[in-house]
Amino acid sequence: MSNAGDVRGMKLLAGNSNKELADAIGQYLKLPMTKADVRRFADMEVFVEIKENVRGEDMFVIQSTSFPANDNLMELLIIIDALKRASARRITAVIPYFGYARQDRKVGPRTPISAKLVANLITEAGADRVLTVDLHAGQIQGFFDIPTDNLYAAPVIVKDILDYLGNDNLMVVSPDVGGVVRARALAKRLGANLAIVDKRRERAGESEVMNIIGDVEGRSCVLVDDIVDSGGTICNAAEALLKNGAKDVCAYATHGVLSGGAVARIQASKLKSMVVTDSIAATQDVAKCPNIRRISIAPLIGEAMRRINSDESVSSLFD
Ligand code: R5P
Repeated sequence: MSNAGDVRGMKLLAGNSNKELADAIGQYLKLPMTKADVRRFADMEVFVEIKENVRGEDMFVIQSTSFPANDNLMELLIIIDALKRASARRITAVIPYFGYARQDRKVGPRTPISAKLVANLITEAGADRVLTVDLHAGQIQGFFDIPTDNLYAAPVIVKDILDYLGNDNLMVVSPDVGGVVRARALAKRLGANLAIVDKRRERAGESEVMNIIGDVEGRSCVLVDDIVDSGGTICNAAEALLKNGAKDVCAYATHGVLSGGAVARIQASKLKSMVVTDSIAATQDVAKCPNIRRISIAPLIGEAMRRINSDESVSSLFD
């Protein structure tokens, strides 16, 4: 990656969801944050005031729609509206973690497709482009009628695996059938084998059975997922792998949603380590948890932003 510095008419603005990541992106690009007030009225309405001229600028708004998802989404929409009314030339919504992505289809009669609604809201607010990371389902790009770049954290994850675990005796494992494409791509980059945890409920009312597709006996297993939320999927998969003779189990997920008792569950689990990126700000519990480690995707996002600004290829970041 080039180390930035050569940006044209580019400005950054951050909401409150993940200031640490926004600052790290700013450091990569050697750009300060645009001065703005993003605050609440007494009744908790969001109010935004941009404190410097942005007329004709190429604006990048950095905001993950993570917990509290609705407040952070509203901040993003209102910042975009303020920029549009202040005559910014182009507005890119940089959404490292795109909340509501798991609601990408009707799961039953009379249910919403909230990911599509959120895409409409962002577009309607005035965004010209979207930049995001490891969308839960790649097809969500099609929910936007504006250019949408979906970055992959895989190169950052692969580097961390090679630095910390090496690729000897490694087995990449998808914790469910839905994640096979992602896990297979990572296994390919690492030159490792692939196994799959297949959860099945044989009969209604009976508990789920975990079958492992692939021989994990004596192997160092690396579970890979896009999201770790309650931690149930990853921790149950780790237990099943160890029961099937795995030597040890580490896990990687791009987005550490980590809600409810997730941190305690991971701490009490047999996972050697759980690695998440900084797409979502860490709570104190996450920062203190001994077997959770965070890696930064700030340079990856910063480089993609620089390339968008200078009309260079973004996909070649992953060649
Ligand atoms: C599901 O399709 C996702 O890829 C993750 O596996 C899921 O969101 C993880 O959730 P949890 O940690 O609550 O099991």
